[in-house]
Amino acid sequence: MNPKLSRLQPYPFERLRALFAGVTPPADLKPISLGIGEPRHPAPDFLKQALAGALDKGLSSYPATAGEPALREACAGWVQRRYGVKLDAATQVLPVNGSREALFAFAQTVVDPTREGATVVFPNPFYQIYEGAAYLSGAEPFYVPSDPARNFAADWDRVPEATWARTQLVYVCSPGNPAGAVMPLSEWERLFELSDRHGFVIASDECYSEIYFRDEPPLGGLEAAQRLGRTDFRRLIAFTSLSKRSNVPGLRSGFVAGDASLIKPFLLYRTYHGGAMSPVVQAASVAAWNDEAHVQDNRRQYREKFAQVTPLLAGVLDVALPDASFYLWAGVPGRWATAVPGLSADEAFARELLAQYNVTVLPGSYLARTALGFNPGAGRVRMALVAEVAECLEAARRIVEFTRRNA
Ligand SMILES: Cc1ncc(COP(=O)(O)O)c(C=O)c1O
Repeated sequence: MNPKLSRLQPYPFERLRALFAGVTPPADLKPISLGIGEPRHPAPDFLKQALAGALDKGLSSYPATAGEPALREACAGWVQRRYGVKLDAATQVLPVNGSREALFAFAQTVVDPTREGATVVFPNPFYQIYEGAAYLSGAEPFYVPSDPARNFAADWDRVPEATWARTQLVYVCSPGNPAGAVMPLSEWERLFELSDRHGFVIASDECYSEIYFRDEPPLGGLEAAQRLGRTDFRRLIAFTSLSKRSNVPGLRSGFVAGDASLIKPFLLYRTYHGGAMSPVVQAASVAAWNDEAHVQDNRRQYREKFAQVTPLLAGVLDVALPDASFYLWAGVPGRWATAVPGLSADEAFARELLAQYNVTVLPGSYLARTALGFNPGAGRVRMALVAEVAECLEAARRIVEFTRRNA
């Protein structure tokens, strides 16, 4: 067996199952899960129709890994409208089967494990795929703590110069999961400057870019590069997905865009790996990228939901409206640190909340690792506001009652 497999950590949801073992939630309260970040607004009808309409022709041929020109054009068109960035659809865009597989596969393409001390740098807490991708590529991860004083932005200053010198790949997650922070232009400038100095590649995970709460849409990596005059997007690839934008996590559709000299070897890797997208999914994806009305409507629903739920929870937890994403990243009251022997504050809070009110939230420490002497997710919980407004409001009311009752 590949020995690197043994380095993969249990996924947070497995750890959650273990934490909840033996807990019997009250049967008279309907279970509400804010645990899993899976979009639950309905998929748009026009997209289902595009999918069904492509079945006849779409199932009878092998797709090219590069995707149909029409899809690449649709992706490039969207990038132009959304970010004002003009791409060559033939060389700077590649469809992928959701950003998850692409984020993973990209490390296998980019990392050279024969170079001394191969390192992959990413924020902590983080989307778990970055770590697995680093291990299986033969690199060591370096966890960059998020900084509560700066809206949980990754504190790149904590990376020692010697680590930057060994770094081959950096994952940026903006808007971030779990805290929803958007990386500003000044930090992009800093990272580009470090990338020029040390030669590392930047993978910018932007799958939450269309769910935002401020007037200005989140800055994208390609947009930042263009504003800084880096029109060749050197050593930069952005990862974009339909899952959250269009409420189709089951479609498995996204694309990567950026530096043509990275897209080319990535296409080669994917050709062998078998990363081609079904023609049926390609047809539906073209329709999705070409429509913005459903995205605006989706965003409006999230905005209404967050506007109602956040103030309720802010009365009892340390929580604020994020820049973007569909999560609330909430600090739990200090008393939970000692409430249940053997459990951290976030674990104790999550377990008791389930036991008393049948609401599931994810302990923040499960999304992070202890590094540089601390776990930056400890003491916080992640709540995914993916259900309909009424259910999220009911969850918030139960959490308010729970925190007051356990004060
Ligand atoms: C930060 C982040 N990146 C990427 C993904 C993967 O999404 P998909 O593979 O559906 O595009 C997720 C999914 O939850 C995520 O939270």
